[in-house]
Amino acid sequence: MTVHRLFPTLVYSARLTGAAGGRLNERLLRECRQLSADDAAGRRWSAKSYPGGYTSYGSAHRMHRMSPTFAALERAIDRHVARFAGSLQLDLAGRKLVMTDCWVNIMPRGAAHGLHLHPLSTISGTYYVKTPRGCPGLKLEDPRLERMMAAPPRLANAARENRPWVVLPAGAGSLLLFESWLRHEVPANTVAGERISISFNYNWF
Ligand code: NI
Repeated sequence: MTVHRLFPTLVYSARLTGAAGGRLNERLLRECRQLSADDAAGRRWSAKSYPGGYTSYGSAHRMHRMSPTFAALERAIDRHVARFAGSLQLDLAGRKLVMTDCWVNIMPRGAAHGLHLHPLSTISGTYYVKTPRGCPGLKLEDPRLERMMAAPPRLANAARENRPWVVLPAGAGSLLLFESWLRHEVPANTVAGERISISFNYNWF
């Protein structure tokens, strides 16, 4: 007999390696904090739409065009996005996946970011700048969940690939990539330290 495993959901993780990655991370951390101090419009937007935390999503969402440090991050991520597109075997018809948006997220204790997708993009992801011990990872949901009308629950100890949702850890200096239709959330940060990340979208048209 054979059990076929069809239609996988691919999620890519990698570290930005080497001393260059470490120096880049230090500069990004400084700039994330500076941005949250300078960006009054973003703080106002966050008070309404990102309670308890700061995001530049509504104010400075093209950081790769505004800062050479973020442009360096874009170049580093480009290589991983190309590899991920290879794993997905995307036929891009000669076009390139290009970073369209890139923004900063700072989550102190209590901040959460509920379930969402990234519409109007192809590949999305997050680079982690600062992840205090015990801070939440990224919770990913089985994209078929709404079709499982009468399906029994899965065993509590089911293999990861059979679970309805999976939390991948957030680690400073590393990134996660996924297709933009994959629903995800960041559960509430329960630790004292700030969880700082940079999210981004790539598009092919
Ligand atoms: Ni997201």
